[in-house]
Amino acid sequence: MSDRSTTPPPSPPTGMRKGLTSYGDEGFSLFLRKAFIKGAGYTDATLDRPVIGITATGSAYNPCHGNMPQLLEALKRGIQLAGGLPMEFPTVSLHESFAAPTSMYLRNLMAIDTEELVRAQPMDAVVLVGGCDKTVPAQLMGAASAGLPAVQLITGSMLTGSHRGQRVGACTDCRRYWARFRAQEIDQAEIADVNDQLVASVGTCSVMGTASTMACIAEALGLTVPGGASPPAVTADRMRVAEETGRIAVQVARQQLTIDRILTPQAFENALRVLLAIGGSTNAIVHMAAIAGRLGYELDLNGLDRLGRETPVLLDLKPSGDHYMEDFHAAGGMATLLRALKPLLHLDALTVTGRTLGEELEAQGPGFAQTVVRPLADPIHPQGSVAVLWGNLAPGGAIVKQSAADPRLMEHEGRAVVFEDAADLAARIDDPALDVAADDVLVLKRIGPKGHPGMPEAGYLPIPSKLARQGVKDMLRISDGRMSGTAFGSIVLHVTPEAAVGGPLAWVRSGDRIRVSLARRELSLLVDEAELAARRAAAPVTPPTAERGYRKLFLDSVLQADRGADFDFLVAPQSRGKVPPPR
Ligand code: FES
Ligand code: MG
Repeated sequence: MSDRSTTPPPSPPTGMRKGLTSYGDEGFSLFLRKAFIKGAGYTDATLDRPVIGITATGSAYNPCHGNMPQLLEALKRGIQLAGGLPMEFPTVSLHESFAAPTSMYLRNLMAIDTEELVRAQPMDAVVLVGGCDKTVPAQLMGAASAGLPAVQLITGSMLTGSHRGQRVGACTDCRRYWARFRAQEIDQAEIADVNDQLVASVGTCSVMGTASTMACIAEALGLTVPGGASPPAVTADRMRVAEETGRIAVQVARQQLTIDRILTPQAFENALRVLLAIGGSTNAIVHMAAIAGRLGYELDLNGLDRLGRETPVLLDLKPSGDHYMEDFHAAGGMATLLRALKPLLHLDALTVTGRTLGEELEAQGPGFAQTVVRPLADPIHPQGSVAVLWGNLAPGGAIVKQSAADPRLMEHEGRAVVFEDAADLAARIDDPALDVAADDVLVLKRIGPKGHPGMPEAGYLPIPSKLARQGVKDMLRISDGRMSGTAFGSIVLHVTPEAAVGGPLAWVRSGDRIRVSLARRELSLLVDEAELAARRAAAPVTPPTAERGYRKLFLDSVLQADRGADFDFLVAPQSRGKVPPPR
């Protein structure tokens, strides 16, 4: 792996002396560096200690990171009390609602920013402070490539609000109330009241969306301090996690415990198990593929599917269950979940504390009675939340969140009703003249990584309103896009390769027959190969390009969903095998 070959072997912390090559004269470079840092009021003595970089991602545009000032204060206290020098620096910060066309379009930009600033500036370890959906994946991708010792600090979830006696939280309840408003079940005054309550504090969405999923994954990977995933953003527990993170960051700097020693195939397998057991967001599969790719590992979708058959859903949290993140925290958080999953985990995986996952679980004691995390013997859903489908419509695989799907539609053959892109969908889905029936299969093309740059969360196609009015609540829906972790339905996502690069999805026409079988893990277009070849020849696909800027870089470089939608030049060039590791 190139990152490893260009990274010097582990050595003791060098603090401000690290990377003194700018002027070809190390003595002069250090002399200048010290002059400038003294200009900020530091003394010589302060500089002789491990330097801990902190990626500060506070932004007025990012309320999910709204506790950043207090969090950084606690983190720096932990670093200083352990003898380190905290050095905070800004990076890109992304929020789901404020980043157009989609935050996913900018995830790789944040990953590049994080990687290069971690590599460029003098630091012996880095604390990655993130929370909102794309931030933790971007930070882990960047840090994996930079290769330094790294610890993830999660901002934490928001509190739940209360609307007329009902608990509410973003964003499963956002969708529910908006649907009721559109159906005229609630009026303008009530929807305004709901709007006040959905986000009751700073912090990330309070259900098992991508942010909560990635927080749990970061802890399962061994990259947070124990208990780092679940404390809500505004709690004392969250601030204590921040202080402890500072202490551990100095320890990983002193030990030069580099991130590649934490992110092993066993750690990835543990994290995939957790993803499946928490009913986690399908987006996390794309992020895991990208993070693994940075270390030369290829996410094996067959392996993921195998883990899914063995790993039940245990966590009773919205959207698959009833609770919110603060309930998960009160139930013991990840320690409770990992304890329940213990027979399925690699307990010898190393964590940033320098101890193994098994040792950390031992240290946290036996747990207590609670109702949010089920035991293996009494799961919410007997298999993991996600299954992988294959077939001539998805040679590179497709994902279905089976725990959120209607079992009847998971063994289904129907007539395709095709929308060529998102604009076509918007123009026709509610047209009373649309030729569509409840057992048809809705197909949306060109919302993949290149088709609608960034692969937006448009895979949750609305039910055509003429059917919705007849009471149709779910239909089989297929696309090359993503969907929000907070959504549910019989929805096939991430069809690979995507339509915009000439994947088989591009050639589907309304009236074609499509077959899905979850039992056989099948996604088939029932059109013969000669006919498909004729369609390809008649209207070849030209992948989209752009003239300049980040959009050009994106369209020229972005990989398909199965490779994490990372840029091709950011993936480690040497392969180190598959995750989960083959048996
Ligand atoms: Fe930031 Fe949901 S919008 S986590
Ligand atoms: Mg989301």
